[in-house]
Amino acid sequence: MMGVEEQKRAAGEAAAALVAAHMTVGLGTGSTAAWFVKALAVRALDIRCVSTSKATADLAVSLGMTVIELDAVSVIDLTIDGADEIGPGLSLIKGGGAALLREKLVWEASRRCVVIADAGKRVPRLGAFPLPIEVVAFGHTSTARRICDAFAECDMGIAPRLRIRDGGPVITDGGNYIYDAACGAILDPALLADALKSVTGVVDHGLFLDLADAALIATDSGVEHLTP
Ligand code: A5P
Repeated sequence: MMGVEEQKRAAGEAAAALVAAHMTVGLGTGSTAAWFVKALAVRALDIRCVSTSKATADLAVSLGMTVIELDAVSVIDLTIDGADEIGPGLSLIKGGGAALLREKLVWEASRRCVVIADAGKRVPRLGAFPLPIEVVAFGHTSTARRICDAFAECDMGIAPRLRIRDGGPVITDGGNYIYDAACGAILDPALLADALKSVTGVVDHGLFLDLADAALIATDSGVEHLTP
């Protein structure tokens, strides 16, 4: 039986095979995406990459890859990234690594997005993984109250919690804070996505809906290719 880390590696390696020379490639964030970046570096293709986080950019550069800014490209050919949950229709929760904003910016600039994961990430319904919400630091407690109102509009009595690490708020690459909302179950992800985006001070949230074109999910019997 494959362990979770072996599955992540298998998914990352399968995704590296999707990349062709001269592509502009979006690099995801997290442990699964790191396996992809390592496998891609081994192929030594003539490509350029746009990273979804400083951490991934540092890894890619350390492996000799060319990383450019998102502003330097008009379109990304292919983005490969991990996820925290993969639900029906390849709806996703992302942002466990606090990179959701840059991830979404890179995904939306991409012709094709492929999510890679171990089998444990597939769920029948999104929400067991706490939904990350990126908020502007200024006035964040006030924003958090209005996030509660947005949840209430969706008939969800949820109070998101500020993500803390090492005694202080986690600060994203964009200088923002992350709130995590323990939803349990998200019955209408599209409704919730719209409600959260309408709150001033919310920069973005970890619901990635209608963005993934395919998924590579590693299982004990091989890497499964899924489409929405
Ligand atoms: C980063 O913010 C996330 O969206 C990651 O893609 C997600 O947390 C998956 O991470 P792992 O591959 O480490 O499980």
